[in-house]
Amino acid sequence: MGVLRSWLGADRAAVDARVADLERLLRTRDEEPLLALELPAPEVDAVTGYAAWAGTYDVLPNPLIRAEEPAVRRLLEDVSPGRALDAACGTGRHAAFLAERGHRVIGVDRSPAMLAHARAHVPEATLAVGSLLALPIPDASVDVAVCALALMHLPDLRPAVAELARVLRPGGRLVLSDLHPTMLTLGGSALYQGADGTVGRVAGWVHRHEDHVAAFSVAGLEIRACAEPAWSEEEVPLLGGPFFALAPEALRAAFEGLPAALVWALERRA
Ligand SMILES: C[S@@+](CC[C@H](N)C(=O)[O-])C[C@H]1O[C@@H](n2cnc3c(N)ncnc32)[C@H](O)[C@@H]1O
Repeated sequence: MGVLRSWLGADRAAVDARVADLERLLRTRDEEPLLALELPAPEVDAVTGYAAWAGTYDVLPNPLIRAEEPAVRRLLEDVSPGRALDAACGTGRHAAFLAERGHRVIGVDRSPAMLAHARAHVPEATLAVGSLLALPIPDASVDVAVCALALMHLPDLRPAVAELARVLRPGGRLVLSDLHPTMLTLGGSALYQGADGTVGRVAGWVHRHEDHVAAFSVAGLEIRACAEPAWSEEEVPLLGGPFFALAPEALRAAFEGLPAALVWALERRA
């Protein structure tokens, strides 16, 4: 990727440096323990994956959260305190932010293991096990809702977006975030390491901008803002993990500036 991204800019020196990286890595692959290392990361469903991930989710550095969080907070911070929903709340990251800002928060998630951490993290929130496809919440009952880094785990966006619109009052704000579809298309995924060291990836589906716009339109949601925070130099070492040490410039050339997250602010039509 680093070669491809330098090539069209006719940056000959950058291309030569990346090709030199490849030659060096191929020459030393038998000596480099990291290159010989297999990384078995079996794909698992969301319930299995988040049961394994719950204990480390808030502990291990997560480059996607670093990129996504400021963009989501910017879209939530001007909403007056009211009744707030964190749908697929996980360990309660955005629920805690909303509670700090004076909202009465309800958190819903399908994973009891993730919710157990949310309970300790945001004791003032009302938390319930539930699905994005059937939220245990009455129609038009929340002023603001957030659903972060979860819709990529659903094969079809539309039923969950319609369900989020159902519980939002007319004029209410919905903020959505996800791993950017470009990253999923390039092979990115929700990769995790559990407390026992096991590695896995939670199954994910690409939802392009056009899929989002179509789902919003059917659900009666108006787009108010869209943000696409990009990977910065601080996140690239985290993205590369142990491989960053082998070819740091190549990893920077491959990832820096690519969109990391896709974030939307929506309003329910009156
Ligand atoms: C990457 S975590 C995000 C947690 C939290 N929103 C955050 O941004 O830190 C994804 C969460 O979505 C939840 N999830 C996935 N599919 C779901 C579904 N169909 N219904 C409810 N929760 C779901 C998982 O259990 C997990 O807690």
